[in-house]
Amino acid sequence: MERSNEIEIALEEEIKQINPEKLKQEAQNLSRRYCEEERKSQNFISSRESALAYAIIRMPATYTAVQTVLKEWKDRTKLASSKIQTILDLGAGTGAATLALKEQFPEADITCVEREEEMIQLGKRLLSFLVDEKTQWVSQDLLEKPIEQKADLVMESYLCNEWKEEDRKKVIRQMFELANQFVIFVEPGTPESFKRLETIKLIGKEKGFSLIAPCTHDGPCKLEEHDWCHSICRVQRSKIHRRLKQGELPYEDEKFSYLIFSKTPYPRAERRILRKPIIEKNRVTIKVCTKEEITELIVTKKEKELYQIAKKKKCGDTI
Ligand SMILES: C[S@@+](CC[C@H](N)C(=O)[O-])C[C@H]1O[C@@H](n2cnc3c(N)ncnc32)[C@H](O)[C@@H]1O
Repeated sequence: MERSNEIEIALEEEIKQINPEKLKQEAQNLSRRYCEEERKSQNFISSRESALAYAIIRMPATYTAVQTVLKEWKDRTKLASSKIQTILDLGAGTGAATLALKEQFPEADITCVEREEEMIQLGKRLLSFLVDEKTQWVSQDLLEKPIEQKADLVMESYLCNEWKEEDRKKVIRQMFELANQFVIFVEPGTPESFKRLETIKLIGKEKGFSLIAPCTHDGPCKLEEHDWCHSICRVQRSKIHRRLKQGELPYEDEKFSYLIFSKTPYPRAERRILRKPIIEKNRVTIKVCTKEEITELIVTKKEKELYQIAKKKKCGDTI
């Protein structure tokens, strides 16, 4: 995280006030629950310990995924950040997306809507260094009471996978109705999420929005049945994260999927990378999705500059 120092100091303070064994237990519970698909509509982050475990274990990854998606928004639209004046962050949790949004759109008014009081309170404390009168937290259950206020950009991160199909569709429709310009969805990079994105694409089209990333075309997905794609971002692990997850590596790779919609169409990427590039002695082979087809791009060592770039590419990048 770019603001990792402030967050890490705040997290260390939070930990001091909590029983370490209980925190460890909650971290294990959280990891286990995240591996289960069937946990629809259950309030599973409702205690202070579980909120803190979420902030330590998951927030760096969800923040980095949203940050990567917002960079893609910028690359596609080329708009000045000041074009976005109002933002809704739905299911804001402890503020991971809010933090990335605040960095990308420092001038915008952000409304964070969240159901769990412990998440709101922790989010407010963790982000106290940047929360100003332009950032508001609203305690509300999206399934019980719809949001009425519109915004230039409406987004959610890691929220849709929490609900039953019918609830999900209801809130997705609402997100498009609330958006003046853009709607962004960021979800886990799993085959199940990939399937869910197909439903979101249909609803977006029905609501008159254009998909501007990551897909390179408007038509049906060209991947074979049961195949799927995702993006990857590298997440730096904090000391607390390593302690709690007992991990050795200073980083982890987060797989995520996303969709960026706009009321106005923008040029799509020409080629999107679908799989980890295969690096051999004198060439790099990359499976890419283009407007016309799914194909392999081969970059040889002779194409000096492109070869160096291609070697460093990952799933979800453009080339
Ligand atoms: C997995 S967390 C994601 C938090 C944050 N967006 C992030 O990317 O780290 C999902 C959040 O959505 C909230 N949530 C789930 N259902 C909700 C609902 N019906 N109304 C409001 N918030 C909800 C949960 O309480 C939780 O904080």
